[in-house]
Amino acid sequence: MRAALLIVLGLAIGIIGTVFAMRALNERNPLPHAVMVTMGFHRHQLQQAIKGQRCEAAASLGQLQHMQMTASDIPFAFPDAQQPFLDLAGHLRTALQNAAQSSPADCPALVAALKPVDEVCSQCHKQYR
Ligand code: HEC
Repeated sequence: MRAALLIVLGLAIGIIGTVFAMRALNERNPLPHAVMVTMGFHRHQLQQAIKGQRCEAAASLGQLQHMQMTASDIPFAFPDAQQPFLDLAGHLRTALQNAAQSSPADCPALVAALKPVDEVCSQCHKQYR
């Protein structure tokens, strides 16, 4: 009787311990969040440029290229992601590549270049965020 109780107690402690350990491990992977914060940072820089009507071609291109590089980190930052998620990450890379290649030289061009990019952002956020 006593032995059986101890076994049950041991199992319960083991299960609780595992749950806590798994939670701690999950929290310890800051990369998915970090990649998105970085993405948001560069997008925000571009927004500030548009707001201030200071859309210098070289600066905009630099931000778009940073976003492109950050987008290539998405598949590595979300290692458990399913194919539809990875497809969206691929669409984002393509949209950013097109935006960078269009080399927006002024604010209206930058706004137009960002439109398809923003669409992919919100498409993925609607489903996965
Ligand atoms: C393939 C899917 C996907 C795409 C595309 C995507 N995101 Fe995200 N984003 C996510 C997920 C998932 C989260 C929640 C992750 C987290 O916070 O841990 C997120 C969260 C965020 C956050 C919130 C971070 C915070 O502080 O909580 C920002 C900002 C962000 N994304 C910006 C962007 C921008 C800007 C783009 C487009 C240029 C973009 N994302 C494209 C999946 C995506």
